[in-house]
Amino acid sequence: MLEDVYYLNNGYPMPKIGLGVYKIDDETMETAINAALEAGYRAFDTAYFYKNEIALGNALKKADISRDALFITSKLWNDYQGYDRTIEYFTKSIENLGTDYLDLFLIHWPCEADNLFIESYKAMEQLYHEGKIRAIGVCNFKEHHLEKLMAETDVVPAINQIEVHPFFNQQPLQEYCDKHDIAVTAWMPLMRNRGLLEHSVITRLAEQYDKTPAQIVLRWHLAHNRLIIPKSKTPERINENYDIFDFNLELTDIAEIDSLNKDDRQGKDPDEVRIGTLE
Ligand SMILES: NC(=O)c1ccc[n+]([C@@H]2O[C@H](COP(=O)([O-])OP(=O)(O)OC[C@H]3O[C@@H](n4cnc5c(N)ncnc54)[C@H](OP(=O)(O)O)[C@@H]3O)[C@@H](O)[C@H]2O)c1
Repeated sequence: MLEDVYYLNNGYPMPKIGLGVYKIDDETMETAINAALEAGYRAFDTAYFYKNEIALGNALKKADISRDALFITSKLWNDYQGYDRTIEYFTKSIENLGTDYLDLFLIHWPCEADNLFIESYKAMEQLYHEGKIRAIGVCNFKEHHLEKLMAETDVVPAINQIEVHPFFNQQPLQEYCDKHDIAVTAWMPLMRNRGLLEHSVITRLAEQYDKTPAQIVLRWHLAHNRLIIPKSKTPERINENYDIFDFNLELTDIAEIDSLNKDDRQGKDPDEVRIGTLE
């Protein structure tokens, strides 16, 4: 299905919906991955920090699906920024996952005050040129981080993975990324089911379209040309979150969801994160 693929700025195709696996533990991974593959997911978003790369790799191996049908993303953890450590921890991530390349490797947080993200990214550029990573990018970069990165490195990030949901729609950053052909992936796309899915606008639209509140929110992300990585360990929800390609939201409904924005950041402000401050 053409509609479910996004072509990154280097032409590499990335599924628009991936399964986020943060907090999926070793016991539930296999069930979640099997449900996801069954539903049609081929993209999986993990990180060294999540401590589940091995479980994800094992579950994918067991499912016996060819590697080139999959899109695997992992991330460089803050504590391992720096040129040599980036190479070392990329190698650990692919060993954990049991693969010899990543589709996408991202810097997890800029940690600008520690002044290592440029050299970390340069190491990622090297791995990219060696063919060990198909696309490289960043997470949690604000405009000023991206400006600095693009001034000092050669490969424009393919992705900026940031917190986005209707209560924090990050429109200015999205516009900046659009202008520079950096695709935005929304993390926490469902706001971790902390109140958003019960909002009266979302539930009314769900009724109107005969969809669930989560499907309305996820379709709203796609309408803004974002990639999404909703997390669930529950097979029914995994299925529900992928089943959104058979409808479109009207422009007025998209605008109504846009109007829910209240700049309500749930996660950390990237300017406050430094090496060692998150565990
Ligand atoms: N780059 C970064 O810094 C960063 C930061 C955070 C997250 N991420 C990535 O983004 C992914 C998604 O973000 P997230 O996990 O923070 O939040 P999320 O996807 O917005 O929400 C996940 C929560 O919503 C529930 N849920 C999922 N589908 C649902 C549905 N259809 N109806 C009702 N509830 C539903 C899940 O419950 P159950 O699992 O119990 O079903 C889980 O508690 C992560 O897994 C991770 O891969 C990246």
